[in-house]
Amino acid sequence: MRRRDVLIGSSLLAGLSSQNVFAQSEKRFGEVIIPPEKEMGREKHVPIIDAPKSVKAGEPFAVTVEVGKTVPHPNTVEHHIKWIQLYAVEEGSQYAVEIGAFNFGPTFAQPKVTVPVMLKNNSTLYATEHCNLHGVWDYSVDVKVN
Ligand SMILES: [Fe+2]
Repeated sequence: MRRRDVLIGSSLLAGLSSQNVFAQSEKRFGEVIIPPEKEMGREKHVPIIDAPKSVKAGEPFAVTVEVGKTVPHPNTVEHHIKWIQLYAVEEGSQYAVEIGAFNFGPTFAQPKVTVPVMLKNNSTLYATEHCNLHGVWDYSVDVKVN
């Protein structure tokens, strides 16, 4: 008898069949991502994206994402930026495509990355970052593709 058969026939699942094992919260993760407006003017958490406003289709260009560009963020073991992620969403699409994800070691690494990016269509670039004390923040810029 296979393990799956044992589980299906077991009393372990019998109690679960009457309830929804896939019940989920009404809350969505996007609701707890903190927008740039919360820190406007002193962006020590906002992952500022530096990218051209207009690029040529299929040609690589540099995108830099930096946390603490205006006001340096603490960089200690107790309080630091753990990661930056960069995504693209093409105009008319609902799907975010991951361009890169970057982890940082506290005190050794600065939360700043530069990535060569190629786009085929007008897109919005989204950056997210995670501060170990202050949560997840985001930022976005539109890039036109000619
Ligand atoms: Fe922080």
